[in-house]
Amino acid sequence: MQNLIEQYQTVSSNNVKIWFKVGRTEEFPINSGACIKYKTKQIAVFNFTINNKWYACQNLCPHKMEMVLSLGLIGDKEGVPKVACPLHKKNFSLEDGSNIGGDDLKIAIYPVKIENENVYIGFED
Ligand code: FES
Repeated sequence: MQNLIEQYQTVSSNNVKIWFKVGRTEEFPINSGACIKYKTKQIAVFNFTINNKWYACQNLCPHKMEMVLSLGLIGDKEGVPKVACPLHKKNFSLEDGSNIGGDDLKIAIYPVKIENENVYIGFED
């Protein structure tokens, strides 16, 4: 179980080595999540029209180690875009992965770029 969570580490834009194309923009739901796979990772992708940004994070909720975050409701808390886990409603910032409720749980965040209507997610390896 520990290995499962350890493979998810936040990637900053500066450290991206691979921009992995995950599909066309129109293939993703608006203001909702989708799940893509990269190597052994499941990544939740969100097209967030409230601020016209895209976000990506691990699909694995660190609370009970369930692959569910792409099914979570998105919204914002005082301007911070967030996803709420559909199981026990823990809220995670899509900006930095922190748990907005204050628990010592965090999720990994990945950069997203859109080019020519293609969606790319940045990875380090
Ligand atoms: S499994 Fe996500 S909050 Fe419990």
